Formats: sequence, structure tokens, C-alpha cells
Amino acid sequence: MLIRRGGPDIPSSEITREEDYLNRREFIGRVGAGALAAAVGGVSIASDNASAQTAPGGRQSSDPLTPLESVTRYNNFYEFGFDKEDPYRNSGGFVPRPWTVVVEGHVNKPAAYDLEDLIRPFTVEERIYRLRCVEAWSMVIPWRGFPLRDLINRVEPTSRARFVAFETIFRPAEMSGQRSRVMDWPYVEGLRMDEAMHPLTLIATGLYNQNLPNQNGAPLRLVVPWKYGFKSIKSIVKISFVESQPPTTWNRMAPEEYGFYANVNPEVDHPRWSQARERRIGELLRRPTLMYNGYGDQVASLYRGMNLVRNY
Ligand code: MTE
Repeated sequence: MLIRRGGPDIPSSEITREEDYLNRREFIGRVGAGALAAAVGGVSIASDNASAQTAPGGRQSSDPLTPLESVTRYNNFYEFGFDKEDPYRNSGGFVPRPWTVVVEGHVNKPAAYDLEDLIRPFTVEERIYRLRCVEAWSMVIPWRGFPLRDLINRVEPTSRARFVAFETIFRPAEMSGQRSRVMDWPYVEGLRMDEAMHPLTLIATGLYNQNLPNQNGAPLRLVVPWKYGFKSIKSIVKISFVESQPPTTWNRMAPEEYGFYANVNPEVDHPRWSQARERRIGELLRRPTLMYNGYGDQVASLYRGMNLVRNY
């Protein structure tokens, strides 16, 4: 939510202080500035000499991989700061193990799961996915992980579960960005159940054949390759099965700019910049953005009959 208005039904603890509000405006503006820099080609931190590599299975992109150095040094993880290199610089003290994931809501097997116990039964595979950030840059990343639906099937949602809500850890002692109230922490995201159950939707535990670096969302994160990158929530500690569409961080911050669906769509511009083209990190010329980030043959049916301008 960008501005909270006081009213009889809103507790005073929920009303944003003016300085927080001003910080948030500046913060949202900076995200826009980042997009502009990327759009005019002002960001250059990677060489484009990474060659395409074959994956053992589940290959989903034939584009050349983005070099590891860029994948780990050019990040959005506001819990560690706002500049692209901040997560790399500031996440060294974050401790991602041991780790507990709370599963709650409309499921037969709610519990606080130790991460290793939770994921042990699943087959971890490599998936090369394009990640398209809402700021109009993109990368091609060899993730390591397993389909979210494996985890969902294990915890047995009931028929009342229509959405899945995710929450990032809140640990301000290790996440310097969380000491500022510029965003509402913890970061939260959500998917409709059919999106969560889609075979492309991945829980990533690694990339480039190593455990996830802290700045990329250790020890586990979501990767939803046909949606803007902000849906791919990092460092997840809670997964809730709910009946109604859950709130999401960016939608709360600026609802007119970031919708719940956030499907990559070159025909629906962000209010402050075009989404028609993108800059692949490491390339000089911008390339056209593909509908659903190029995964339309697999996911378009999820949205048949929906107005994609209204459901942005
Ligand atoms: N998850 C959390 N908890 N906090 C964040 O700030 N940023 C999102 C997403 N997940 C973010 C997050 C955004 S805007 C993007 S583009 C991707 O993470 C970036 O993932 P990457 O840094 O691994 O490329």
C-alpha cells in the first residue's frame, strides 16, 4: 500500500508516518530510475561471452546463460539494500541454515518443517529459465530445484485452498534493509493454486550447481518464469494455503503499478515505462519482450478468458 489513510477501522499502529511515506515514494521512484537506466543501456556489468550449456534435464531456454558473476552481483533483494550490488555486498552475514518452513492454512499436514526434511523426498533437477524483471532487464539462469507442486502434494491442501501465500524471513539483525521501514516487512507474495501447481513453477535451492547464494534468496525461493521477477520471492519461511487472494508486497506499495498477476506482457506497459523491450544483462541492444516471457505455449491456458489489461 502506498498511502494508508487513517480512519476508524485502522489502528494507529497501521498508519504510515510521513517520513516513512516520503521514503517510500523516493524508493518507488528509484525503482523507476533503475528501469530507465536499464532501458537506455546505462547498465553494463557483464560480458556476453557465456556460452549456452546443456542441462541434465528440464531445459527451458536455449539462450546463452548469464554469467554467474552477474547473477550474483546484480540483484533485487531489498532486505539487503536498494542498489543492485547491495545484496552481494551486504548479505555475507546472513545465516540460511538451519532453516524452518512453516506450512499452514487449509492443508492436512500443517507443520513447522525442517528444510532438509521437507525437501529430502524430492528430485532436484536443473532448470534453465529466463527471469524478466519488471524493471525491463532479464537474465538466463540455471536454477537447481524441484517443482513447487511436489511440495504442495506432500502437505495435502484441502479443497478450500484456492491460493498459496509466501512470506520471506524477517531478521533485521542480519538483513540491514529491514531496519528501515521503507517497505512493509516481511516481503510477501502469492499465487493462485493452479499457478502454484503448474509444472514450470519451481522452488529453487541452488543455481549454477551450487547452493543458492544469500543474495539470490538462500536457502529456498520461488521462481515463476512467466511472471515479472518480483513474484519470485526469496528466503521463504512460511507457505500458507488460503481461500482468498493474499496481499503482495509490491501491490500494497503501489497497486496501480504492480498487480497480483504480474504476467510478463509486452502489450501492457508499466505506468512509468514501456514493457515492450528488455535489456538482457550482458547484451548491448535491447530485445523484444515476449508474451509470458516466452512460456506462453505452456501457461497461456491458465488465463484464458481473463482481461489481461485489468488483471496486470
Ligand atoms: N524477494 C524478497 N524477499 N525481496 C526482494 O526484494 N525482489 C524481487 C524478487 N524476490 C525481492 C524478492 C525482484 S524485484 C526480483 S527482479 C527478483 O527477486 C530478483 O532475483 P535475483 O536477484 O535472484 O535475480
